[in-house]
Amino acid sequence: MSAYQKLVAQSQNLFEQFLQEINQQNAQELTVKYLGKKGLFNQLAAQIKDLTKEEKKDFGRELNQLKNKLESKLADYQKQDLPSQIHQDLTMPGIQAKLGHLHPVSQAIEEISRIFERIGFVRVSHPEVDWDYYVFQALNMPANHPARDEWETFFVDQQAHPNLGKMVLTTHTSNGQVREMERVKGQLPIRMMNISRCYRRQSDNTHTQMFHQFEGLVIDKDINIQHLKGTIDYFAKEFFGPKTKSRIRPFHFKFTEPSFEVDFSCHICHGTGYIKDEHNHKINCRFCKSGWHEVGGAGMVHPNVLKAGGIDSTKYRGFAFGWGVERSYTLKQDLNIDDIRLFYSGNQEFLEQF
Ligand code: DAH
Repeated sequence: MSAYQKLVAQSQNLFEQFLQEINQQNAQELTVKYLGKKGLFNQLAAQIKDLTKEEKKDFGRELNQLKNKLESKLADYQKQDLPSQIHQDLTMPGIQAKLGHLHPVSQAIEEISRIFERIGFVRVSHPEVDWDYYVFQALNMPANHPARDEWETFFVDQQAHPNLGKMVLTTHTSNGQVREMERVKGQLPIRMMNISRCYRRQSDNTHTQMFHQFEGLVIDKDINIQHLKGTIDYFAKEFFGPKTKSRIRPFHFKFTEPSFEVDFSCHICHGTGYIKDEHNHKINCRFCKSGWHEVGGAGMVHPNVLKAGGIDSTKYRGFAFGWGVERSYTLKQDLNIDDIRLFYSGNQEFLEQF
């Protein structure tokens, strides 16, 4: 048998094999098997190169016919066989699509927003890349003041503004204070909740270079420390649970007078600093430092800050507070997350737990 005759025989065999298989496999599988890029037809056609010029012509014709036959049979089969190709058991339970959810930090931001909305705070948004003026100067921290050292600042490589100074990545959400006073243009009272990204040059298990803070600011007539403490107490119970207590300790910030650090009672030892072991002996609580967690700062708005915002400090007073969203979230009951960097690690197993 010549090479040409062999190929013609193969071509006929191929079509016969196809006819036998046509009712056993579904149309899509058959199409791939016979007419796919690496299918049987192309494998056969590739062998044309071994033939003489004359034979190529004849075999070319043979191939064309074969292809037409395969295509038309497959097209018919596809139409007639459509219902039987859909192998569907209608009694099977459906396939549940996997649902995603908000990132835990977004969940915390939502929760914090709702908590403060209920007592009349309005969520606003102020820049997270801002002028030195709003981040420091207007907050009673003039250029070169040592108090600035506490905020390890990233500066933006851009020309300084003649009055507002350099541009920085906001180190805290307190930049929103004077911005908000300017925004309302004397329309008081202010009850602001500013939640935003902040940036500092620090990274360890309780700090990430990018993090979130929330800042509350209230300005009205006859505002005093009790309003501040009441607001913090309310947040503690809503966010951490009804048994949580808060305390304020004297501190120093340039933009508040008096200033405080804010602590929440530890939910493991309930503010006592110790727990009992299996023999009923007191042992130190390992989760907190002596019963309390320090979370952030607060105070009565300094008259210089009110002045920077165009507010008459003889008529109005205010309180402000601010602290980290991630830090607060890690202290939530039953979470006990000991490394804040996990939130931004992209670790799916960690994130899926929330
Ligand atoms: N901005 C301060 C910080 O990041 C926290 C703070 C302290 C905010 C006192 C305030 C405040 O509003 O009154 O450390």
